[in-house]
Amino acid sequence: MAKIIGIGKYVPEKVLTNFDLEKIVDTSDEWITTRTGIKERRIAPKNTGASVLAYEASKIALKRSGLKASDIDLIVVATITGDTPFPSTACFLQNHLKAANAACFDVSAACAGFVYGLAAGWQFIKGGLYKNVLVVGSEVLSSITDWKDRSTCVLFGDGAGAVILTASKKDSILSAYLGSDGSESEILMVPAGGSRLPASEETVKNRLHFMKMKGNELFRIAVRVMVQAAGKAIKGAGLEFSDVDLFVPHQANERIISAVSERIGIPREKIYINISRYGNMSSASSAVALCEAYEEKKIKKDDIVVLDVFGGGLVWGSMVIKWA
Ligand code: UT7
Repeated sequence: MAKIIGIGKYVPEKVLTNFDLEKIVDTSDEWITTRTGIKERRIAPKNTGASVLAYEASKIALKRSGLKASDIDLIVVATITGDTPFPSTACFLQNHLKAANAACFDVSAACAGFVYGLAAGWQFIKGGLYKNVLVVGSEVLSSITDWKDRSTCVLFGDGAGAVILTASKKDSILSAYLGSDGSESEILMVPAGGSRLPASEETVKNRLHFMKMKGNELFRIAVRVMVQAAGKAIKGAGLEFSDVDLFVPHQANERIISAVSERIGIPREKIYINISRYGNMSSASSAVALCEAYEEKKIKKDDIVVLDVFGGGLVWGSMVIKWA
């Protein structure tokens, strides 16, 4: 069984506001705010690896856990913007941390990656293979954002969140539910740079190394599967929606969060929302939101916290945590 003993986050210093974006593409603060809830996002310095952001968040999580880097047995990094196509960003992070005793791998589950990573870490501990697991969601989405495409460039930001799980007598993760639908994989993707369409002059010219998204199709699916995932995870924990103390959803669009929470009947004061400050940070969104909720003392011991995420793949998931 496992519990969370440390949590940390890091966002780059540079703030890019909606007003800054008005100067780059044909958009407005009014459109972005009313359609998404986003006011600003953070942008990492050019050529920063996701492992660098992950390192900053992990240092804080480690400090709060009381563990040393050498105590970590496993590092799982959820990212779609890894430092390089391979090796894993988890290996780069291991080297930054000098966590020499850890096994390392990345999780590719887009915006759901942090919950997929947490579920993996939890199960590795439950299965007895590892004792101390570092799970990080880290993204430099600015590196795959097409700054000429107003339909996507206003949505995303950079950041990282990290959690340390350790073996314990009681489980603080009460349940997890993960789902996917590969038949919809083309509606949110980076088309080129993989084996199917390796980098070439043509792919660069056609801007195929940037994110492409069919926003309103995704919106409808997101609401449906996030409602379903939260329901399954809460039922799996033997609880009701009324037992939830804090709901921490993926921060892709404030209207998605409102639609999901209305359908499951969670009141506004029980939802953690920080999208206005960071935009969508993919796998880092739920990790950073969980960390900020903790830092702002919105989570107390024994509170029931529900993560609920959705992203490209398509992938989704929800996890119920009883805060230890
Ligand atoms: O992280 C997980 C995956 N991501 C998501 O789940 C995102 C889900 N989707 C969304 O959040 C929303 O669909 C968006 C925020 C992406 C778009 O909002 P929307 O209300 O679905 O807008 P739309 O795509 O239907 O576009 C409406 C109009 C269009 O103009 P016309 O065709 O009606 O004249 C767009 O060209 O808004 C226009 N538009 C913009 N206008 C100003 C699109 N982007 C912008 C922009 N500024 N940045």
